[in-house]
Amino acid sequence: MCSIIGYIGKKIASPIIVNGLKRMEYRGYDSVGVATESENQIELKKGIGKVNEVNLKIHLDKLPGKIGIGHTRWATHGKVTDVNAHPHPSNSGKIAIVHNGIIENFEELKKQLENEGYSFKSETDSEVIANLLQKNYELTGDVKETILKTVSKLKGHFSFVAMFENGQLAAARFHEPLIIGIGKDDFFLSSDVLGFIEYTDDAIYMENGNFVILDKNKFQIFDFNGEHVKYVITKVSKEFGDAYKGDYAHFTLKEIFEQHETILKAGEKTPDAIEKTADYIRHAKNIYITGSGTSYNSALIAKQIFSKYAKIKAETIISSELQFAPDSIEENSILIAISQSGESADVLDAVRIAKEANCKIISIVNLLTSSLARESDIVIGMNCGPEIGVAATKSFTSQLVIIYKIVQKLSNNDITINFEKFSESILKILENPKKIQQIAKELKDISDIYILGRGINYPIAIEAALKLKELTYIHAEGIPGGELKHGPLALMDSNVFVIVFNPNDSTYSDMLTSAREIKARNAKIIGISDIESDVYDYWIEIPKIDEVLYPISEIIPIQLLSYYAALEKNTDPDYPRNLAKSVTVK
Ligand code: F6R
Repeated sequence: MCSIIGYIGKKIASPIIVNGLKRMEYRGYDSVGVATESENQIELKKGIGKVNEVNLKIHLDKLPGKIGIGHTRWATHGKVTDVNAHPHPSNSGKIAIVHNGIIENFEELKKQLENEGYSFKSETDSEVIANLLQKNYELTGDVKETILKTVSKLKGHFSFVAMFENGQLAAARFHEPLIIGIGKDDFFLSSDVLGFIEYTDDAIYMENGNFVILDKNKFQIFDFNGEHVKYVITKVSKEFGDAYKGDYAHFTLKEIFEQHETILKAGEKTPDAIEKTADYIRHAKNIYITGSGTSYNSALIAKQIFSKYAKIKAETIISSELQFAPDSIEENSILIAISQSGESADVLDAVRIAKEANCKIISIVNLLTSSLARESDIVIGMNCGPEIGVAATKSFTSQLVIIYKIVQKLSNNDITINFEKFSESILKILENPKKIQQIAKELKDISDIYILGRGINYPIAIEAALKLKELTYIHAEGIPGGELKHGPLALMDSNVFVIVFNPNDSTYSDMLTSAREIKARNAKIIGISDIESDVYDYWIEIPKIDEVLYPISEIIPIQLLSYYAALEKNTDPDYPRNLAKSVTVK
């Protein structure tokens, strides 16, 4: 999703901005641009493509000046074109902006500004901010008044950085992340700590409805009423700087291979939070669990595990759906919000709705400084380190471990899980990818994969389908095994591949029957199981383990299969087309 960045200080801004944009590449984008100010002149360059490609062509990092702004765009309003890329200059060229979010009333504002003589070059909603700022700056001649007047007109979600020809920067935040980095003799603005972590780890997480005005050696933060705001400087962990691939070809592969270690760290940095969560759950009227994408799939597993092992009923809600049924949240309940980034707009919206119903919020997040963490009553950290690959891998297994730990507490430690031993069995799967690589070759030219699971293995089938779709662009669908004969069996023929999750649990023999029904229709079967069977055309062995842990060990071979199939298909496993890591728009 869009990343914004700003710099003001004693160094040349453009290389710092380009570097910061590269570090935020994982968020997903389609075009890039930089603008700088030097000798009261704003210069701007932008284009379609990856930061390195565009930089090679038009030398973004050679722009002069010690003040600058930069942006990577993930198109929402208007096609992927050079003109639609940010920064956007105002008509006079004396102000330039970068924006993250959506201005919902941009059409109305654009019409008003056009009637007043302003013209627009792009199809974006963002360009109205630049011209609105110009209008208000010409009216007031004061940056603070300009921002106040401008934000009072904007509807929607936004964070933007504006650069004024007089050498000042201003940035405002409304429901989109914005962080100030405090360097030794400079300041940074960014939507992500990674934008400046190389230069400083002192940061201020701006509150919603606040803006900042920065000069070379000072800054002031105000709320949208113009009142001064007190702030706290947070030390952001240097571990976020550790976002390199090392010896791995891709971040995704590195992150898959880290899982035998990351599962051991889940929840470790927030030790009391799990105990507290169990306590909240025991006394809650209702328990809702929400998330998007992979994090929602974790919620589906949590629901089943809570019920089976702790006899606690929970309801799952897809975050983006809650807005259409806000009354389904009963007052004074608990919402468990699961999100790797802690910045997904849909999840934050679900949290807002739950808070309006006086619910307590428990979040399971990877970034403890994220917006979601700051909105929560209890925060449990996944603690799996930065996840750069767009497809969620290690964050998913860490989410599941946290859910197991909560259930352990809820059951007064009736279920015991030896995570150390489990980690060894995960390592065994990771150490033997050869067979999975071979099977990946078979998927190169196929167009459909169906994935079957029953009981607790069904949400894993859905997650497996999501991984295959994202990484290979093959149509993939998770199906509850028993539903096969109620429709999907019509699709089975020799062109189809079917993955069956068939661990040695209570679903085993029913799933074997489903597999035989598929085999009879000549579809190819990949069996994920700890027991070999002649029904499988390809068998991917998973270790024999405690039944409760099958979901984690089942997904890892599919993460690997999706990754290797992506290589076969020549798609980019780290940055799948059209997707963004942090989905900060609704
Ligand atoms: C799937 C994936 C997405 C995310 C979803 C939620 O591989 O990456 O479906 O799971 O966008 O993101 P978070 O967990 O950051 O809220």
